[in-house]
Amino acid sequence: MSLTRREFLRFGGMAGFALHLPGGWNERIVPCPSIAGPEGHAIGLSVRVRANPQALDPAKLEPFADALPLPPILRSNALRASPEDPSRKVPFYRIEMREVLVKLHRDLPPTRQWGYAGMVPGPTFETRSGNGLLVEWANRLPAQHFLPIDHRLHGAGLDQPEVRTVVHLHGGRTPPSSDGYPEDWYPPGRATTSFYPNRQDAATLWYHDHAMGINRLNIYAGLSGLFIIRDQFEDRLQIPRGRHEIPLMIFDRMLDTHGQLLYPVSDNPQSPWVADFFGNVMMVNGKVVPYLEVEPRKYRFRILNGSNSRLYQLLLANGMPMMQIGTDQGLLPAPVELRRLAIAPAERADLVVDFAGHQGEQIVLKDDAVNVMQFRVSRTKVLDASHLPRYLRPVPRLSEASAVRTRVLTLDEYDDLSGKTILMLLNGTYWHQPITEKPRINTTEIWNFVNLTDEIHPIHLHLVRFQVLDRRVFERFEYQRTRNLRYLGPLTPPEPQEMGWKDTVRVQPHTVTRVIVRFEGYKGRYVWHCHNLEHEDNEMMRPYEVIEPA
Ligand code: C2O
Ligand code: CU
Repeated sequence: MSLTRREFLRFGGMAGFALHLPGGWNERIVPCPSIAGPEGHAIGLSVRVRANPQALDPAKLEPFADALPLPPILRSNALRASPEDPSRKVPFYRIEMREVLVKLHRDLPPTRQWGYAGMVPGPTFETRSGNGLLVEWANRLPAQHFLPIDHRLHGAGLDQPEVRTVVHLHGGRTPPSSDGYPEDWYPPGRATTSFYPNRQDAATLWYHDHAMGINRLNIYAGLSGLFIIRDQFEDRLQIPRGRHEIPLMIFDRMLDTHGQLLYPVSDNPQSPWVADFFGNVMMVNGKVVPYLEVEPRKYRFRILNGSNSRLYQLLLANGMPMMQIGTDQGLLPAPVELRRLAIAPAERADLVVDFAGHQGEQIVLKDDAVNVMQFRVSRTKVLDASHLPRYLRPVPRLSEASAVRTRVLTLDEYDDLSGKTILMLLNGTYWHQPITEKPRINTTEIWNFVNLTDEIHPIHLHLVRFQVLDRRVFERFEYQRTRNLRYLGPLTPPEPQEMGWKDTVRVQPHTVTRVIVRFEGYKGRYVWHCHNLEHEDNEMMRPYEVIEPA
């Protein structure tokens, strides 16, 4: 891969790139928060977004007009034989994916979306560690997609049905046949049943679509919901629960003046794919910038970044601290005090926020300067029996010496001569090429993600949980020429809030990010990919296979 004009320009920190939207446009510069320097500092890049005359100006929508909706918790009213042991019965659920019209804001007409059980986000699953369950996922969507498919992308050709879905449980230790392999999609009128054994620690998981080549559009349309696993360990802690435990699924959208979802397209009608999506309307649990009434006491918030590309920098506008207690795969060893939470697509963060002493205040949760939602603290004092312990759950560090193999895997971006990104790859390989990552079951490996691009890529592995080892800035141009890794700085240890079990890691630009992974659970074919959905859909995804022991 050689240095392209765009990379050259971007490396100088001077360039923008154009994101074209349909219609006639006025140009406007908006900051692009997911592009950041090696230490996570913005390097002065911006995306040039052409303002669509049909696009709704979010400033016209009154913030905090709607109450935060809480997705309903699913109840199963049927039992079926467990696929692992037919003498045992497990809960059975049936979920239909349907087109729905939903009011996203008090002053907007209903918006067409696609939701699990007709809701966006979908209803929340709740189960306990080790309690398996079965879900029949029925595709009852229309035959036509309402968002711009790029038929040039792999798996999205004109010879394929327009509407295809397959569900993946993100963060689940799931057998391969139920994991939602991107090519295991099915069209409207069909259904498939998945078995989730849930043999894993308490954590906030995420079910979402994973269909090859149109995943970004399906999730943008609304196919996304939470799946919570609890366990005894967590039960024993006196952290807030019940109505004081609130999920916050955050994502950004772009709307037209009729309140309908807009998804940008490139200036090439043959290839409408765009390299990133940044919306200007912030949504929490499917409502535009809502409010939540809280009592002056501690709350637990389970935050999921369900956006296509946007990395958030969340903070409370009054400067109040947030205590992070959990990450992707469950509790941290100890709470971490934060004033600002960086959270990339697909990452989860469990926070405890104490509103005691803030009676009557209105506290805004922001992404930098942008309103995300508001907490309205009631005036009456309440008794708070919850307790935030000093230590939460031991997370023993995996020893590097236990790794049987180290892999070096590049993250690559390819631009055309005009500087427009046309392709993203993992380790220079396309999706359809033979499987190259074949870890043996019950072995540990170290994966080095070598980021040759200017962007953060949230890298996710299915099936497993891992630990972040460290990050290190390297000389990219030398690496591109000679494959020699020359480091330019010291090893940076993981951030304190990355000391828990993870399944998605932020790979900073121009750094090598190392993770240590034990491949446990099931043999078979899975995927690893960038969770920037635009990247994932354009080749930044690879199969991998867990194989039998030596
Ligand atoms: Cu959120 Cu391949 O998954
Ligand atoms: Cu990416």
